[in-house]
Amino acid sequence: MELITRPRRLRGNAVLRKMVRETRIDASSLVYPMFVMEGKNIKEEIPSMPGQYRYSVDRMEEKLTELADAGVSSVMLFGIPEHKDEVGSGAYAEDGIVQKAFRKAKEVCPELYMIGDVCMCEYTSHGHCGVLCDHDVDNDKTLELLAKTALSQVQAGADMVAPSDMMDGRVAAIRAKLDEKGYVNTPIMSYAVKFASSFYGPFRDAAGSAPSFGDRKSYQMDFHNRREALKEAMLDVEEGADIIMVKPAMAYGDLIREVKDRTDIPVASYSVSGEYAMVKAAAQAGFIDEASILCEMAVSAYRAGTDIYITYFAEELAGYMKEGRIG
Ligand code: PBG
Repeated sequence: MELITRPRRLRGNAVLRKMVRETRIDASSLVYPMFVMEGKNIKEEIPSMPGQYRYSVDRMEEKLTELADAGVSSVMLFGIPEHKDEVGSGAYAEDGIVQKAFRKAKEVCPELYMIGDVCMCEYTSHGHCGVLCDHDVDNDKTLELLAKTALSQVQAGADMVAPSDMMDGRVAAIRAKLDEKGYVNTPIMSYAVKFASSFYGPFRDAAGSAPSFGDRKSYQMDFHNRREALKEAMLDVEEGADIIMVKPAMAYGDLIREVKDRTDIPVASYSVSGEYAMVKAAAQAGFIDEASILCEMAVSAYRAGTDIYITYFAEELAGYMKEGRIG
């Protein structure tokens, strides 16, 4: 047999395999999404996301220190308000839930990098991501509220804001507002390529943010579209986004790769609640091995071009990276 190229030569042992490894990752790229709610002394498990909890502000510290100790250096906050209204005023209230949570996080764990998800859906009585005009979200009226929300989060201590609403022009609106108030160095991570996805189901249970009528298809993207994803990404780059995100991660690796190749700013991907719930449920049923599956999912996102990986498994992944299981 005269074989000149034998790919197996480079797979001969563990040292060599690691030497030639193409995807290298470390825990500094992980972001943990965390839910905070009104009330006292609450740590309440989310039924559709076993192992994930909603915390009252006074109980955040235990989770934040646990994350920091595990080597996770960044957290994205989602607020669950007590009261909702038509215009989502809880999203930009000075003493809103997420604003209180940012202040607390900065007090108890100042070394953590805190990111604010900027959206209205957790705060509106109808569960849509902006203000309504008849039965649709009014894009331009919503922009002002999103900019106010972002500003109030930054004033409360957020280091970065991440708009997830999918309104047109929101990155420019937020950038202008932050700049006007002097926050010229606060980065915007835009959920630029966000699909109308059933993978968000468990999150909506967790945050009580399912729309009370209709769906989000008039603002989130149709998952059949690839070129439109690039259009959205490029638009957000032009509007001043510092980081762009593709969401969900698992079924959208093709787009993570394309966005990575076509832009020159960092690319984030979000392994969403449905991905988490599927892994947990299958592992609990004994059908898959949770640790190896979540490692493989994470590496596939990085291999596709992810620079920043947002995941409910951040703590576990940081541990597996430390052990050298992946990385
Ligand atoms: C808010 C928002 C959602 C998610 C992140 N920000 C829900 C949605 O768009 O319906 C989903 C996150 C997840 O599923 O883990 N708009």
